[in-house]
Amino acid sequence: MTIPIIKVQQVDKIFSTEDMLTHALQGISLEIKHGEYISISGPSGCGKSTLLSIIGLLDFATTGKLYFEGTDASQLSLEQAAAIRNKKIGFIFQQFNLIDELTVYDNIALPLRYATQPVSDQKIKQKVDYCLDVVGMTARAKHNPMQLSGGQQQRVAIARALVAEPSILLVDEPTGNLDSKNSDQIMATLEALNNQGTTLCVVTHDIRYAEMAKRKIYLLDGQILGQTHFDQQSVFS
Ligand SMILES: Nc1ncnc2c1ncn2[C@@H]1O[C@H](COP(=O)(O)OP(=O)(O)O)[C@@H](O)[C@H]1O
Ligand SMILES: [Mg+2]
Repeated sequence: MTIPIIKVQQVDKIFSTEDMLTHALQGISLEIKHGEYISISGPSGCGKSTLLSIIGLLDFATTGKLYFEGTDASQLSLEQAAAIRNKKIGFIFQQFNLIDELTVYDNIALPLRYATQPVSDQKIKQKVDYCLDVVGMTARAKHNPMQLSGGQQQRVAIARALVAEPSILLVDEPTGNLDSKNSDQIMATLEALNNQGTTLCVVTHDIRYAEMAKRKIYLLDGQILGQTHFDQQSVFS
């Protein structure tokens, strides 16, 4: 049996601020296996981003366990967690987070230039060119992000997330800053990546896009309300 990329076991997350406690996640358990395309949806404030941050080792659970490829996240130092994030996880957010002073090419190359194991310029070129092609941005390699539309910038962000060949792409509201035409194109690109084998976990409040995933998880008030697989009719049936 292969080890799942992600195993979340009875995770709770409590945020404590000066005057209140927020129980953002309660008793969350789920697994994500290689090649899966899962969506996590639900209304604003239900805990989607918090869950994705824990899955992506950007934050830690208050109680419960998170295993990344079999490694218990609670046993990792901050440096070890950062090393796994850089090597194994590709992040895509609503804000494209591109560096305006760098070309599209150099933005995509960035994760390789900061890799723990040095990557040769020739290898970087090969990988960046491949990712530019995957997202259809080869003709824009020398442009700066500001010269691109929002949809094109998100394509570059996808290429940057892919370049280090991560085990999983974690995607949080990828279309939040895009019009509907660009949003549809970005979601089609993500779907095509999954069809070629990329493991995807997409957080969205947009039910139309959540429905594109092969497995859907619905959150409400920090709890899993239900799940559907692509061949099932409804979570409630
Ligand atoms: N850093 C934080 N400090 C305090 N409360 C937070 C923090 N991050 C999120 N929350 C709270 O946790 C709940 C879930 O937030 P979030 O995961 O961002 O929801 P979603 O992504 O589904 O909109 C909300 O009530 C939110 O206000
Ligand atoms: Mg969110």
